Amino acid sequence: MVIELKSVLIVFASRFGSTDEIAHEIAEELEKHEIITEMLNLKDGESTPSLDEFDGILVGSGVKMGRWTKEAFSFLKQNHNSLNNKVLGLFVSSGEAANPKTHDGARNNYLEKIMERTGGKADMAEAFGGIFDLSSNSNYSFLEKKIILRLAKSVKEGIIMQEGKVNDFRNWQLIRNWATDFANLVKTYKKK
Ligand SMILES: Cc1cc2nc3c(=O)[nH]c(=O)nc-3n(C[C@H](O)[C@H](O)[C@H](O)COP(=O)(O)O)c2cc1C
Repeated sequence: MVIELKSVLIVFASRFGSTDEIAHEIAEELEKHEIITEMLNLKDGESTPSLDEFDGILVGSGVKMGRWTKEAFSFLKQNHNSLNNKVLGLFVSSGEAANPKTHDGARNNYLEKIMERTGGKADMAEAFGGIFDLSSNSNYSFLEKKIILRLAKSVKEGIIMQEGKVNDFRNWQLIRNWATDFANLVKTYKKK
């Protein structure tokens, strides 16, 4: 029996660490499904491995003031032709995705529109809820604190947002399920 091993490159860029942790959780889940994973943290400035070697590529970014990280956005834009020949998944960690009421807007702004602007056509794309660190010892700058407080005010209706606390809206089960679906898609992929 020939066992065909599949591989996935997880490319990500995170400003405050949330997307980084999501990327690692996804990698763990893919490995459970016997997929070989490699991580590429674009904020580390490592060189990009040959994309030809992978069956699937995941690209993840955090969102700040309506924008992806410039590193993840450029990666998708520059490589969209090669990426579109593989199983492509996109994910973001977004404050707006934390609330079911604003989730669809986040999907549209931070995934659909990003695909239009970069030419990347994803087979799977999801906006995962992110972190609102409202604690006094957050790593945000003075200005970032003001912005996150304003954003928290605008999305808090109907969800529990605690002042002065780290509010982590990442749903790990949802993230693992999404990774499992991606693994299944990669397993059925035939190289073009
Ligand atoms: C200064 C600042 C601006 C933000 N702007 C947005 C925004 O425009 N839309 C959004 O959905 N989330 C926004 N967020 C929430 C982040 O998307 C959330 O914290 C996410 O988990 C960050 O991911 P990262 O840690 O990987 O960068 C903002 C957060 C900060 C601190």
